[in-house]
Amino acid sequence: MKILVCFGTRPEAIKMAPVCHELKKQGIPYKLCVTGQHREMLDQVLDFFELTPDYDLDLMKHNQGLNELSARILVGMNTVFDSELFDLVLVHGDTTTSSMVALASFHKGIQVGHVEAGLRTYNKKSPFPEELNRQLTGRIADYHFAPTQRAKDNLVKEGVAEKLIIVTGNTVTDALAYAVDKVSNKYESETIASLKKLVDSSKRLILVTGHRRESFGQGFQDFCEALLLIAADPSLQLIYPVHLNPNVQEVVFKMLSKQDNIHLIAPLDYPSFVWLMNQAAVIISDSGGIQEEAPSLSVPVVVTRDTTERFEGIDAGISFLVGTSTKRIVDKTSEILKRLDDFKGIKNPYGDGDAAEKIIAFISQELN
Ligand code: UD1
Ligand code: UDP
Repeated sequence: MKILVCFGTRPEAIKMAPVCHELKKQGIPYKLCVTGQHREMLDQVLDFFELTPDYDLDLMKHNQGLNELSARILVGMNTVFDSELFDLVLVHGDTTTSSMVALASFHKGIQVGHVEAGLRTYNKKSPFPEELNRQLTGRIADYHFAPTQRAKDNLVKEGVAEKLIIVTGNTVTDALAYAVDKVSNKYESETIASLKKLVDSSKRLILVTGHRRESFGQGFQDFCEALLLIAADPSLQLIYPVHLNPNVQEVVFKMLSKQDNIHLIAPLDYPSFVWLMNQAAVIISDSGGIQEEAPSLSVPVVVTRDTTERFEGIDAGISFLVGTSTKRIVDKTSEILKRLDDFKGIKNPYGDGDAAEKIIAFISQELN
């Protein structure tokens, strides 16, 4: 069976790296294709996980629109499939790369395995466009690697045959374990050295990220307003690695760059970001992956989104859905800061670090 692993953005790369590592460990040949939907942020991940693409479509354009990006991916994948045919393509999650690579594979009669299948809000405007991307990929996929039982239940309700759904845990817990192990074992990096200088141990650290398209405009301004109010407390330090999307950069640098205890920095390579998460008292973020990683580090997450497909962390009492309302972000952050001990010892509901092993066991036993 000829396998192609394909991804395009930072989070997909982080979450598919363990799958690539497991394929290699089991001696199963595969090829790796990156669309290059992201560039710098993707390359940081490829470097850390020592992955070399066989195909790199190098598609990213500045401030790219969804339709042009989708079209470029379809055409680019067609070129790949014209040069080499595959029996199975593995895609991840809910990006434009995932849905368009799945569609391009379907058009060529190639089977699709969907990693991180079954997450749903059932609100196609939130997250936008990810909810529709994952539903489309789910309709196309032949095999569904669901991270949790809840994700499996969603797929079953949608009529997917149970035998085609494999509950594996989320591969992000595998990636995190790999990074934590490296960082705690003499991994040397100039970035971590400079973060050590930046982090003020006399203050509590709040780590911030934000990039969701549905929050652009007023939502992002309200979110920045909340960060300014939180930073009014001098006992806190905020560090915000700012996503490279120009719609994010413009607002964030305009509104936050003058506040002394808010540090706006470039996106971090994965081990540096993991190191910084470990130093944080609280994370304020709209990121999917961070909601899944933070429980392993006992760090609570204030989720600046109106909807979530990741209820498991909320049910476990370690993530808190507040939307982009300034008041709700400020109030929840201050409430959490008063009870940080409550988050120690919560089990990560998203996985145990063996998701890739389960995915590859299914592929090698059932499909080969
Ligand atoms: C994308 C995904 C989103 C995912 C996020 C993870 C879609 C529609 N969106 O959103 O689901 O949560 O990635 O971060 O698939 N840019 C760079 N360098 C980079 C990356 C981005 O300069 O390495 C800039 C470019 O101007 C690019 C823009 O950011 O055009 C937007 O990138 P894009 O991948 O379209 O959207 P994201 O907001 O990153
Ligand atoms: N991340 C990183 N560097 C950063 C910010 C985040 O490596 O500066 C990692 C983070 O640990 C998580 C992933 O990137 O694994 C999340 O990516 P993002 O928030 O861009 O996308 P999402 O998960 O929301 O799709």
